[in-house]
Amino acid sequence: MADKVTLEFQGKKYEFPVVEGTEKELAIDIKTLRSVTGLTTLDPGYKNTGSCESAITFLDGEKGILQYRGYSIEELAEKADFLEVAYLLIFGELPNKEQLEKFHTDIKNESHVDEEMKKILDGFPKSAHPMGVLSSLTNALIAFNPSSVNVSSEKEMYYAMVRILAKFPVLVAWTLRKKKGLPLDYGDDTLGYVENIHKMMFKRPNHQYEKNDIVINALDKLLILHADHEQNCSTSTVRIVGSSHAGLFASLSAGISALWGPLHGGANQAVLEMLEAIEADGGDTEKYMAKAKDKNDPFRLMGFGHRVYKNFDPRAKIIKKAADEVLNDLGIDDPILEIAKKLEKEALEDPYFVKRKLYPNVDFYSGIMYRAFGIPTEMFTVMFALGRLPGWIAQWREMRLRNEPIGRPRQIYVGETKRSFVPLEKR
Ligand code: SDX
Repeated sequence: MADKVTLEFQGKKYEFPVVEGTEKELAIDIKTLRSVTGLTTLDPGYKNTGSCESAITFLDGEKGILQYRGYSIEELAEKADFLEVAYLLIFGELPNKEQLEKFHTDIKNESHVDEEMKKILDGFPKSAHPMGVLSSLTNALIAFNPSSVNVSSEKEMYYAMVRILAKFPVLVAWTLRKKKGLPLDYGDDTLGYVENIHKMMFKRPNHQYEKNDIVINALDKLLILHADHEQNCSTSTVRIVGSSHAGLFASLSAGISALWGPLHGGANQAVLEMLEAIEADGGDTEKYMAKAKDKNDPFRLMGFGHRVYKNFDPRAKIIKKAADEVLNDLGIDDPILEIAKKLEKEALEDPYFVKRKLYPNVDFYSGIMYRAFGIPTEMFTVMFALGRLPGWIAQWREMRLRNEPIGRPRQIYVGETKRSFVPLEKR
């Protein structure tokens, strides 16, 4: 039964409908608020504000639940592969064999990148941060794929999505190889989607490609765990840029820039740098815990806390277990993992963190896995972007198919009231 709320303001009463989602979430529908009351809302960081109705991902921060199109993250991480999950997020259903094969074939047919793009990549110094390179190259792709900008039909939309799913991994591999001074080449379309990504990133010239199923399976799982997360900062960026009809690639480029920030996807790089600093400091975790709690110290315990999860981030639980297994299988004894576990234990028992419900998030353990795969720390957030790509695409597609209005929040002006111009000689 639809419910409603009553707002009383200056002696008048106003009613607004309450909308209920399929997982019983409730929200006040304030679409008419300003026109009927003259009021707007103020909610910095949108902590209490829903930007849209979405059927893609559900998460319950209190219970630590995450579902893609109704399937639990635990089941998908265990039983699906990344390409299947990409299809599920974008089209809403797990693909059958024919659908998955066609999706992969369509992607493989678009996996070339114009040679001219290498000239753009060459323009960057080796010291350039890979997220800045990737955001730029994603935008540059527009010039070589103009038909992927003004997509109005679902067919045009499909090919824009397939193109970026095909070309983005190539750009990721080229970004890594450029930093390592390795030749830029392509993978092998006879391989699986994630195996091909691994080969493009790590194949060494004059060496036979060494396939490692442990790494490829773990990478596939990590990409699934990062694939979508409802209206987080970078996804909201993709949606708001997409809402101006700037096109998919431009929207994704903006999302990559938003993800780069250390408070968001950049945290996985910051976590590793923090853990390495603690290791260099003789493993003095107490010192960093004290810094994290000191209001006068800008330092935060990276990889801890979350806007929505006030319980364990289910992804962190899965990654922590996988990190143990993968490092063991690879015969890697990484002291950084032990420092991470020690830090987690101390934080989970510390009143400051317990009171604020600060738990390890997806970024706390992921970097330890990437490091075990031989991925440089600066590339960690690029791996996050690679995983989040299908989620961004799915959210952009949903926003466009629902004909959402252009995103344009209001504000409360607190600046100078009207005043007259003062000539220079009188200032
Ligand atoms: C991701 O939104 C998503 O879904 C994102 C993501 C996704 O999949 O897209 O899940 C990926 O971005 C994960 C988060 C990665 N970021 C980090 O690990 C950076 C460290 N964490 C924080 O900076 C922080 O927890 C945020 C940014 C993640 C969330 O910040 P909020 O929700 O704005 O909370 P807040 O900053 O208001 O903090 C509330 C309190 C404050 O203390 P008080 O003012 O109440 O005394 O908790 C404290 C904060 O100082 N706090 C921390 C802390 N995180 C919050 N104190 C120390 N260390 C931390 N990490």
